[in-house]
Amino acid sequence: MKKQIYFKENKKNVFSVKNSFFTIADCVETMANMPDGIVNTIVTSPPYNLDKSYGIYDDNREFCEWESLIDNVAKEAYRILAPNGSFLLNVSPIPKGKTKEIVPLDAIAYFIFKKYGYFLRNSIIWHFNNMQNCTNRLSGRWESILWFVKDINSYKFNLDDIRIPYITKNDKRLVGGSGRNPTDTWNYDVPESDFWYFDRVNNMTKNKLGISEHPCVFPTPMIERIIKMTTNEGDVVLDPFLGSGTTLIAAENLRRIGLGVELDERYKEMIIKRVTNETV
Ligand SMILES: C[S@@+](CC[C@H](N)C(=O)[O-])C[C@H]1O[C@@H](n2cnc3c(N)ncnc32)[C@H](O)[C@@H]1O
Repeated sequence: MKKQIYFKENKKNVFSVKNSFFTIADCVETMANMPDGIVNTIVTSPPYNLDKSYGIYDDNREFCEWESLIDNVAKEAYRILAPNGSFLLNVSPIPKGKTKEIVPLDAIAYFIFKKYGYFLRNSIIWHFNNMQNCTNRLSGRWESILWFVKDINSYKFNLDDIRIPYITKNDKRLVGGSGRNPTDTWNYDVPESDFWYFDRVNNMTKNKLGISEHPCVFPTPMIERIIKMTTNEGDVVLDPFLGSGTTLIAAENLRRIGLGVELDERYKEMIIKRVTNETV
């Protein structure tokens, strides 16, 4: 087993499964103790302040507290990212309070990240179909994935590893070509289309995988695309809001070193089980 060099202060609380390491702790404190420049890509989905039942994390707090959490994460992440590193932040427009007025978390996060020197490389639309139907407004069917880079002139972008099939089948000029750029709107169900479409992990799938206890789980293929796009084999990928452990599964499948931080002890066994059983 590899010696872990990533989580300095929390050695007793660091768990290793296959090539991944994770810790049960507060991500801001953990990142503050990590060495400079050690992470190639951070991919994560923080709580959205939607009053989800995460266990010990209170997901219904004053909005300024949410902003301060994202601010601290952006700041610590900048230091631990490699000079050509990327941060992919998944957030969504959220309905807030009694009126369900929409708050664009991506716009808020953008200004926080800009304060620390990141550059926005793409604002990706993740489109899905399985969510509640609204009756007094249009039903929400997308979330953002903001792709920030530390250096706009030098970052990893492995386009050839994420190309999708051409739409036009009979164009002779495309014969032998390597496929199309998947663009910034992703649809996975229809590989030829221009959407990042990955259905949200529904309750039936969660029950099958034994992860019904976690309210928000990433679709693994979506995280695999992000990891392929921004890292090479052997690189280090961190998820500071690890939840049920999806990012570690994707990292394992692609032979990267996965790191994760999760606040809630109750997800520890779930993470270990998923990384053990769901990896290729
Ligand atoms: C949206 S979920 C992430 C789900 C994850 N993408 C998955 O596929 O399972 C956010 C997670 O962040 C955790 N969390 C909240 N605050 C945290 C903090 N300060 N440090 C680490 N984890 C935290 C919550 O307990 C929750 O599990």
